[in-house]
Amino acid sequence: MQALKLSNGAEIPALGLGVWQVPEGPVTEGAVVAALEAGYRLIDTAQAYGNEQSVGRALRSSGLPREEIFLTTKFLPSRRDPLAEMKKSLERLDTDYVDLYLVHWPQGGPTAAWPGMEAAHAAGLAKAIGVSNFSAAELATVSKSSEVAPMANQFQYSPFLDRRTLVEACLAANVVPQGYSPLGTGEHLDDPAVAKIAATTGRTPAQILIRWSLQRGVSVIPKSSTPARIKENYAALDFELDEAAMATLDALDTTNHTPEAKAPGQKWWS
Ligand SMILES: NC(=O)c1ccc[n+]([C@@H]2O[C@H](COP(=O)([O-])OP(=O)(O)OC[C@H]3O[C@@H](n4cnc5c(N)ncnc54)[C@H](OP(=O)(O)O)[C@@H]3O)[C@@H](O)[C@H]2O)c1
Repeated sequence: MQALKLSNGAEIPALGLGVWQVPEGPVTEGAVVAALEAGYRLIDTAQAYGNEQSVGRALRSSGLPREEIFLTTKFLPSRRDPLAEMKKSLERLDTDYVDLYLVHWPQGGPTAAWPGMEAAHAAGLAKAIGVSNFSAAELATVSKSSEVAPMANQFQYSPFLDRRTLVEACLAANVVPQGYSPLGTGEHLDDPAVAKIAATTGRTPAQILIRWSLQRGVSVIPKSSTPARIKENYAALDFELDEAAMATLDALDTTNHTPEAKAPGQKWWS
């Protein structure tokens, strides 16, 4: 499995399974088990997703040693205490630690949750801590004022939302960039340029989109609750897009390579 290096020395797999909008219960359990069987070793959940318990059950039932799996969850910033919420997550996940704990979005300002995130890290409950939906400026603000700097930033990323300046800011600060919604939550799969590259390479549109992120040096976490698609997406590790295909995909960007993590006016909290 390809991996990226975190500043704590650990490796984070380049490709993982995301489980946003996958309901707690057999569907989440089935998706996580299918992913682990296919070879995935990174699972991305969040307190907001309401499915940590099912993720935990699937990890247990896989029989894989805990240390072989990279588990991410995210602090829900409408709550007050990242350390207390970490402990509750660990109970639901039925494990002693997570590999990565992210502030889900910068509610209350970029540094609001950070002391509590550092406390979860100091207690050994989160091996790595990071942020999500942080712009380059927000990332710099939290890095400057922290004892333990963020180790990863997860943001929406695809050829259509090629936040290249944000990726570069992450890499310059030794922060692993991780892309979410690589398929545009399914909306980019029918794009004609993507379909054409898929047809000429003998790959599927989902594989093309996932592969583009991997070749841009960004960790990526496509979601599917369908075992055959979970397997299909994993095979994005097995081929390469040539320069012409990468350039065609690059041309789909609508953000002018923004350093922002979200579109103007877009936010997840009130
Ligand atoms: N940090 C954040 O704020 C944030 C926000 C959004 C997402 N995320 C993370 O990123 C993950 C992925 O993003 P996302 O859930 O927005 O969506 P996505 O991965 O871009 O797309 C998922 C959609 O594509 C479909 N799909 C997946 N593989 C397919 C394939 N091979 N062929 C055809 N359709 C396929 C899925 O359908 P089926 O499931 O029916 O197969 C689902 O409808 C999330 O699950 C979550 O872990 C994080």
